[in-house]
Amino acid sequence: MPVDPDLFRTAMARLPGGVTVLSTRWKDADHAATVSSVLSASLDPPIIVVSLHADSRIRDALDQVDTWGLSILADDQAPIADWLASPGRPVIGQLSRVPHHRAPESGAAWVDGASAWVDCRTRQIVPAGDHDLVLGDVLAVREGRSDAGALVHLRRRVHPLR
Ligand SMILES: Cc1cc2nc3c(=O)[nH]c(=O)nc-3n(C[C@H](O)[C@H](O)[C@H](O)COP(=O)(O)O)c2cc1C
Repeated sequence: MPVDPDLFRTAMARLPGGVTVLSTRWKDADHAATVSSVLSASLDPPIIVVSLHADSRIRDALDQVDTWGLSILADDQAPIADWLASPGRPVIGQLSRVPHHRAPESGAAWVDGASAWVDCRTRQIVPAGDHDLVLGDVLAVREGRSDAGALVHLRRRVHPLR
């Protein structure tokens, strides 16, 4: 029996995931998107894996530049997650209303007020169906406020968690 894609989607939506913003800087423009398929894959060496839709603009950008940043969003940052997941938003200026600073190695945008930040260089990209798994070597890490909560993607909604 083939797996029902709707059932697969709703079943996996019960697996909670932390919400992040992945960003990269290419040709003086900040590309950024909300991403919850993030895995801390290895501690030694530190490696992160993200799963990106193969047809997404953020995935295309990673063909042009091999460094990128992740901001692990805090509980009060749902509007940023919504905005950077909205289809058709312009690339140019999409971060103009999102306060950010620069990651030390990649120069990617790190969202101000996030719970933690990671800076990465792509080690390998593995095709996985309609997504690509992007493995990144961790170049730098920073922690945000000690009292920051989290945003959790569960059952297709984003929930604040403190
Ligand atoms: C909470 C949440 C989590 C998401 N996680 C992912 C993800 O892990 N991978 C992915 O490719 N898209 C994910 N998306 C969808 C992208 O954010 C969305 O398609 C975005 O527009 C992609 O940006 P782009 O069109 O500039 O590439 C997520 C959306 C939301 C709201």
